[in-house]
Parts: sequence; C-alpha cells; structure tokens
Amino acid sequence: MKIVLAYSGGLDTTVAIKWLKETFNATVITVTVDVGQKDNFEDIEKRAYIAGAEKHYTIDAKKEFADKFLSYAVKMNGLYEDVYPLATALARPLIAQKVVEIAKKEGADAVAHGSTSKGNDQVRFDLAVKALYPEAKVIAPARIWKMTRETELQYAKEKGIPVKSESSKYSIDENLWGRSIEGDIISDPSIEVPEDAFEWTKRKTNEKLKLVIEFDKGIPVSVNNEKMDFVKLVQILNELAGSRGFGRIEHLENRVVGFKSREVYEAPAALVLIYSHKDLEKSTYSPLELRFKKVIDSQWSDLVYQGLWYEPLRETLELAGDNLNKWITGEVQVEIDGNGMRILGRKPKYSPFSEKVASYNKGWYPTDEMARGFIEIFGMHSLLTREVRSD
Ligand code: ARG
Ligand code: SIN
Repeated sequence: MKIVLAYSGGLDTTVAIKWLKETFNATVITVTVDVGQKDNFEDIEKRAYIAGAEKHYTIDAKKEFADKFLSYAVKMNGLYEDVYPLATALARPLIAQKVVEIAKKEGADAVAHGSTSKGNDQVRFDLAVKALYPEAKVIAPARIWKMTRETELQYAKEKGIPVKSESSKYSIDENLWGRSIEGDIISDPSIEVPEDAFEWTKRKTNEKLKLVIEFDKGIPVSVNNEKMDFVKLVQILNELAGSRGFGRIEHLENRVVGFKSREVYEAPAALVLIYSHKDLEKSTYSPLELRFKKVIDSQWSDLVYQGLWYEPLRETLELAGDNLNKWITGEVQVEIDGNGMRILGRKPKYSPFSEKVASYNKGWYPTDEMARGFIEIFGMHSLLTREVRSD
C-alpha cells in the first residue's frame, strides 16, 4: 500500500509516519503545504525522512491560498458565529487538494491526515478527499490508535522518532489568516486565557496605528497608499495590528461534531480587513443589498466551517458575492491601539451617499406636506395593526 500523508511536522503526524508504515505495511510519502505558517520547512523535511518517509514534498501554496480562499474570506466577510475568521477551516480544503494531487501523481491508494475524531478538521479533510479523489481510502491514524500525548511521546522515543523540541503545550494551527490555539488549560471556558497562549498579538507599543486600506472590487490592494500583493498585505497587517495587541478572539464555539468547545484565535489582519470591508459595503450597497449580503455571508461562513467547501451552493453564493463586490472600491481609514480598532472614515467610490441630501445645513429639504404624507403612509401598517388589537 502507498499512503500520502498531510504532514505538519508536529508530534501527531510525525508519529503517524512510523505507525502507518508498521500498521499497513505501507510506503509513506509526506506532503507539507506552506499556507503561511511560521515553520522551518527544511527541519520538517528532515524529520519526515528520519521518521521513515519514502519521499517528501514541500508545496508553497501561499499565493493560491490568498487568491482563491482569502479573497472570498474578505468578499464574504467570513466570520463563523460572528467572530472566528475561519483560518483553519479555509486552509483544510487546499491542503487536502495538494495532498490529493501528489497522491494521484504517485499512484497512491490512500491519503492520511492527523485529525482526531472529536474535531472539525477530520470532516474538512475527509470530505475534500471524497470530492477530489473518491477512489482513495482516507486514513486518520489518531482516530484509530489509542495513544495520548504521553504515549505518543513514549512511542516516538522507543522508535527513535525525532520530536520538535519547542513543542507547545497547546494544540496550534497556523496559517496566513490566523493562529488557532486549543487544549491544555484553555479548554476550561471559565478561566482567562493565559498570556503564554499568544504569539501574534503581544502589545509592543502603545503608539496609535493609523492605516488607510484600499479595496478594489472587494479585494484589498494597498495599505497607506503602498500597493502590495495580497500575501504581503496580510503579512504586514498581521505584524502591524498584532504589535498593538489587536486580533485576539475567544469564544465557546459550536463545533460540527455536536458539542461546544472553548476556542482561541489570533487573526489581526483578518479582522482589520473584514471590518474595513464591511464598512465599505455598508457605505455602498442599497439597504436591500446590504440585508441580503448578510444572509449569504453567514451561509458561506457556516458552509466553510462545516467542511463543505465542495458543496455546490458555495459557488452560487460566491457568484452573488462577486456581483455585489464589483462596487466595493475605495478607502477606509482605521485606527488601532490597545483598546481595539476604530473606523475613522471612508471614501467609497460608488456610494449613494449625498451630502446635499443628508446635510442639515444646505440643499434638499422635504416640504412639511411631503414629510407628513410620507410618515402617514409609512406608519399606516403598524398603526392599523395596533388599533385592531387594542381591545
Ligand atoms: N476550532 C477551529 C476550527 O474548527 C480551530 C481548529 C484548530 N485545529 C487544530 N488542529 N488545532 O477551525
Ligand atoms: C482535531 O481534533 O483534529 C483538531 C481540532 C479540530 O479539528 O477542531
């Protein structure tokens, strides 16, 4: 049997290399997909070979991640349960796609990943592989073996498998769009998340950060008038906003697998971009478009969270999203400091806002007669309903 394993370089997947070889008498090929996690990919490759990989691939998918996934995360204001920018959820279908590409190229019969049976990630991986390579078997070692972290470490020691030395006590998943932190004491939702859980959002300065973010058809294209590609723009915003301590999220999340779990995230760039984009949308759309957009945004976010990236409805939602985002061009000015982020102003290119109409000082005023007529007809429905219920 030939198995292609999605390899992060962490303890679980390193142990999995050896375990897969022994359990299935298989050849194991490892694939590490670079979606912007701050890892040493050479070390990861070395570890894969020492643990027994036959062949290793490192694939730089940052640009594809930004262009095909994060662009929609912005256009569709992707926030699960209104708060989580979906970093982990967005990367899974892309990692699965890359692993499937290698599996097909190598003629492998199975694809493996490191997710557990309690998480969302298994749903995302399994469903993406089923959609892209239905003939392949999916193996999730952690769903089969009965190892805990302790016994995994012991297994690694026995088999001479190298383990990443600075292994965190938390379970971390990281990519361009954010850092997800779970496990250890932060699983208890009643206690404050300790400072050592955070890495991207440590406040280094109290100086206010002022930014001008420019969007073109819903896509961010410049920061403070400096044009940059999407990957660079996200990296720079993570640095800048993160250095003000901005971008922390914690909540009790409703997982796909039927229970609530305390989840902690750092996603400075994602929040800055989504909040700014939302402001520009509000300034641009008709009120009916704005209300409709909220509905499709939340459907899109649920679908991505639930691992249904290949559900056909996604494309339909994105088509509507693209059509509306055609008008989301312009600038948003924001200010970020230790107290959070505030929007200071905006310059939307296609806003129906009219100073002449809105100003109290000049221009258009409805006559008294017009205002009375409007209010009478506008309120009629409510007043008539109230009247018939008055006895
Ligand atoms: N709860 C988050 C999600 O479902 C984060 C998952 C984090 N994954 C991890 N391997 N630590 O997207
Ligand atoms: C896992 O359990 O594999 C990670 C967490 C998650 O998928 O939600």
